[in-house]
Amino acid sequence: MNRERQIIDDYRQLGIVEWDGPLGAEVTGLDLRQALAPEVWAEIQRAWLQYGVLCFRDQQLTPAQQAEFARGFGELDVYPFMRSSDAHPHVIELVKEASSKTNFGGLWHTDTSYLPEPPKATVLYAVEVPEQGGDTLFADARAAFDDLPPSLRHRWAGARGIYTPRLVHGSTGVYGDADVQAELGARYGDEAGRAEAEVEHPLFRTHPETGRKSIYCSLVHTLRIVGMSREASLPLLTELSEHATGDRYVARLRWQPGTLAIWDNRCLFHYALNDYHGQRRHMRRVIVRGDRPR
Ligand code: OGA
Ligand code: MN
Repeated sequence: MNRERQIIDDYRQLGIVEWDGPLGAEVTGLDLRQALAPEVWAEIQRAWLQYGVLCFRDQQLTPAQQAEFARGFGELDVYPFMRSSDAHPHVIELVKEASSKTNFGGLWHTDTSYLPEPPKATVLYAVEVPEQGGDTLFADARAAFDDLPPSLRHRWAGARGIYTPRLVHGSTGVYGDADVQAELGARYGDEAGRAEAEVEHPLFRTHPETGRKSIYCSLVHTLRIVGMSREASLPLLTELSEHATGDRYVARLRWQPGTLAIWDNRCLFHYALNDYHGQRRHMRRVIVRGDRPR
């Protein structure tokens, strides 16, 4: 097949179906093992920036193929707290065994916002999912920002926060326990000090591609507001977090084996539901390098 024909065929098949809810869309008609035409990539990128999270059903991807797809969004990154898969240096196997109680991502968060340059995208692929449960919730922090009362928005317009992994990865955090780390395949060792790192980011960030503002601070990664104690910061952090994850901003992804999702980690929060005890769930995770929040 020549390339022109390939593009036309891709276009004919490409469909974008909005999820029920305020964000997210399903992309239909593509086999992500195939090289995608530039026009198809452009359409995927456009839809991704608009909908915040895209899913693709019924894929059959190896770790390398998943990483290759993610590469279409930019350079791959490495998650600091977990070992990568033997199969691929940029893939993490997220496995929750039937007997395990520890859930990765079971809090409203955006990925590793405690890093100086957090990833722009996370690409998650479902290998094995429970019969029922194990959905992921996504919240649109752009719409939540737009809806903030103008007085609050202006009052905190330039405010910055101290972000740290300590709250979740420190010794008292949910992932701080050695047994939990072993269950998750966490890689700490001599890198334990990393959990204490602190970085400054705005509470509200501006999307580098769309220019839209969104709520960025969270209860799990934002220690405090710059110039304020944690105690004094908590009411605002709590208010913003509760607002941003309110029902009207939230959509739900029901995984099936072979579902791939990619979300924009700069303007969304997500939450992995832990409601499938006794069943196994196996996901593969790849992240794409991002820039410094502004
Ligand atoms: C993640 C995460 C959600 C899930 O990979 O960053 O939060 O549903 N996962 O597994
Ligand atoms: Mn996450």
